[in-house]
Amino acid sequence: MDVPEIIRKKRDGLALAREEILGFVERYTRGEIPDYQCAALLMAIYFRSLDARETADLTEAMLRSGRTLDLSAYHLPKVDKHSTGGVGDKTSLVIGPAAAACGLLVPMVSGRGLGHTGGTLDKLESIPGFKTRLTFQEFHRVLEMCGLALMGQTEEFAPADRKLYALRDVTATVESIPLIAASIMSKKLAEGIEGLVLDVKTGAGAFKPRLEDARELSSRMLEIGAAHGKRVQALISDMSQPLGNAVGNALEVMEAVETLKGRGPRDLTELCRELTAHMLLLGDAVNSLQEGRAKYDSVIASGQALEKFAAVVAEQGGNPRALEDYSLLPSAEHQDTITAPERGYIAGLEARAMGTASMALGAGRDRVDASIDPAVGLIFEKKVGDPVRAGERICVVHSNDRGRVARALEMIRAAVSLSPDPVAPAPLILEKVPKEDARGWKAWHA
Ligand code: URA
Repeated sequence: MDVPEIIRKKRDGLALAREEILGFVERYTRGEIPDYQCAALLMAIYFRSLDARETADLTEAMLRSGRTLDLSAYHLPKVDKHSTGGVGDKTSLVIGPAAAACGLLVPMVSGRGLGHTGGTLDKLESIPGFKTRLTFQEFHRVLEMCGLALMGQTEEFAPADRKLYALRDVTATVESIPLIAASIMSKKLAEGIEGLVLDVKTGAGAFKPRLEDARELSSRMLEIGAAHGKRVQALISDMSQPLGNAVGNALEVMEAVETLKGRGPRDLTELCRELTAHMLLLGDAVNSLQEGRAKYDSVIASGQALEKFAAVVAEQGGNPRALEDYSLLPSAEHQDTITAPERGYIAGLEARAMGTASMALGAGRDRVDASIDPAVGLIFEKKVGDPVRAGERICVVHSNDRGRVARALEMIRAAVSLSPDPVAPAPLILEKVPKEDARGWKAWHA
């Protein structure tokens, strides 16, 4: 295989043959192609894209790189959800336990922080002792015990995505529809699930901010899912401002736990309820979305969803007491506040800049081998549409390294906009792909 020739072909905008894609991914995963050549190919794909056939081939290549879970022995509906990435997006920590408490089997394989967005694995690892690197046997054991297991890509499971994901994170090659689609769908297909709900983000904090791109990304992933016989429903949701109030790993864990206790912020709670209801419908565990929403509310109110999360935390080596006593989670030494310079209404909290500010504090990586600070981040006390008085607090910045704070504060200040007139926040869920609800779609899809 002529690796420079493959890079050159894509650089010049030509389609890659199936064998070239399969061979490249196989050899890169085995360590036979160095990161610098792979980074060059990723950048060529970023600029030249992949067509639907190439994207399907890339997904297939990544899927083949590792083992696939066989969940046929479990007689529960197997449904997962995955987000295309956002700022303050901690829904997996709520939805996984809630869906499992409602009777679904949820084998959730997630990622680390990517670009300016946070990752489920980094959030979970801020719980003392929590292990996200599981063997196949360990993953099966937790799944069998709890109906939910949460882990990351390993050398055994989705190894190609493990390497490509980490490389994209630090080479500015995340924001590509085919690369996102193949990354997500290869992991999800390897999970052995029957149904998948996709939370496709749109708005400033999304990897592809434009609604047309969110639609295209949804369609690409739906096509791949359909080709593999999976039921897939995408919800396009707003990411113009951070989701919920917290951004940063341990801070987001606290907010997710509060949401499991029924005390979460309104937008986060609503999105978790909607996504869980769609998962239940895809899994035929309910007959309508309304029934799904009611089921979500009941497992939150009864404490079953929180109990489920505590059980998974304990099974995966974490300290479940941290879900009651937040002082057991990492906390930052310093707090600075951003206040309103004048009275008005919050018109914008530009999500990408907020994510970048959180990374600048140490919540994310700038090199593959960099470590992160789980304690740092932001807490928003105001969201878009809220009225503010001059001098009132908008955001509290949690930091450890004083050398990093000035830049973060500057970024946050520049990302807050005020209006003298009332402002309506964007709708949380903008569209569904396909548009029919999941039941109608299943008939159409069959
Ligand atoms: N989530 C993933 O798993 N991969 C991406 O590329 C983006 C979001």
